[in-house]
Amino acid sequence: MDDTRQSVHGQWSGRWAFVFAATGSAVGLGNIWKFPYITGENGGGAFVLIYLACIAVIGIPIMMAEILLGRRGRGTPINTMRRLLREAGAHKAWQVVGWMGMLAGFLILSYYSVIAGWALAYVLRMGSGEFVDATPERVGELFAGLLASPGQLLFWHSLFMLMTMLVVARGVEQGLEKAVRFLMPALFVLLLIMVGYAMSMGAFSQAVDFLFSPDFSKITGTGVLIAMGHAFFTLSLGMGAIMIYGAYLPRHTSITQTSIMIAGADTLVALLAGLAIFPIVFANGLEPGAGPGLIFETLPIAFGHMPGGSLFGFLFFLLLVFAAWSSAISLIEPAVTWLVENRNMSRVRACVWAGLATWLLGIGTVLSFNYWSEIKLFGKTFFDLLDFLTANIMLPLGGLLIAIFVAWLLPRLSSQEELAMRSELAYHVWHGLVRYVTPLAVIIVFLNAIGVIG
Ligand code: PFF
Repeated sequence: MDDTRQSVHGQWSGRWAFVFAATGSAVGLGNIWKFPYITGENGGGAFVLIYLACIAVIGIPIMMAEILLGRRGRGTPINTMRRLLREAGAHKAWQVVGWMGMLAGFLILSYYSVIAGWALAYVLRMGSGEFVDATPERVGELFAGLLASPGQLLFWHSLFMLMTMLVVARGVEQGLEKAVRFLMPALFVLLLIMVGYAMSMGAFSQAVDFLFSPDFSKITGTGVLIAMGHAFFTLSLGMGAIMIYGAYLPRHTSITQTSIMIAGADTLVALLAGLAIFPIVFANGLEPGAGPGLIFETLPIAFGHMPGGSLFGFLFFLLLVFAAWSSAISLIEPAVTWLVENRNMSRVRACVWAGLATWLLGIGTVLSFNYWSEIKLFGKTFFDLLDFLTANIMLPLGGLLIAIFVAWLLPRLSSQEELAMRSELAYHVWHGLVRYVTPLAVIIVFLNAIGVIG
């Protein structure tokens, strides 16, 4: 339709720049830190299967929907929605998708940065050889020591926020995006090495069994909700992050192909992380459901015993920091561009405000691991509550609204034009998934989790 409509923030140099940026957003702590620990907490195989199904039938179609909205609207999620709701003749209230997304990104980054801080701390710890020959007990103690120290947590959280806001202030296309092109494949190779090492340990088949033999008696309504929420979280969906990257997408890039590539790479990284971690868990008699500390309590055991382990461990956590970094910038990008577009701020000023607010809220997460660890609401600490609210409620809700908007309100011609699929059938499959399957699935999983059905 409007070929001249371009984002004021620039445009990707081409399809690969977009694929790398979006993969940079998708692959992060969600794959390597969160996927293994929630899989461990929710009993393994059945959870993994539900997660994979959610990626295929909800994640990929919603990713396509977000990219097409972004490219058509060419603005921040809020402004994109504002433009497109006119095109769709929809009510102004639909802007809420943009608002909620911006809020979700801000809330997620506040705790994401604290966890990325753990990874930063581990870069140093690995480099200093602290884990050489360490027993599982010692590794556990060292991690508990980090959590017990608000000062250390705050230091690393502050450093990570600073790193993030520096990149965002300079504009997303520069610097980090170029680095991600090399670092992401490097992370992938390192994960392969870890899986190779894990294979040489006794418990590999037990880990494969745990991850891939579904036992549905272990899954609860909440477990299904967590699997679905994680499909959104890991693909950066439901909050406009991918939408905003889509706003910089050149016209003739295939949305379908790029979405499949991004989701495929993301899923592969998560599964490799699982295959690297669970053999260590089982070989050392550790608890798969150990919670958010899982990778920090397991991987150092392997690094402490393998040849060249300190170097590999150092590199691994460094690459994990980069993966988290490229995700973090996409979490705050919607808020920053919104401040620039609507509050007339310079990019730097917008970064200072958004960064400060996020950093402040992050202190709540820092304290939830020590001083506030006993303060609970609905049985959850501050960190648990934020994580649950954003990943399992806000992101799926955002996805639900996006699905309804794209498949029920936006004229079919618009989505047909943006997707430009060669096969009529493929378009119908996508449209059917977004129109019926996604909304129904999200609603059923919500109702099931709160115990209304099932
Ligand atoms: N996808 C990122 C991860 O898996 O670590 C987290 C994330 C980034 C979620 C950006 C949402 C988002 F908009």
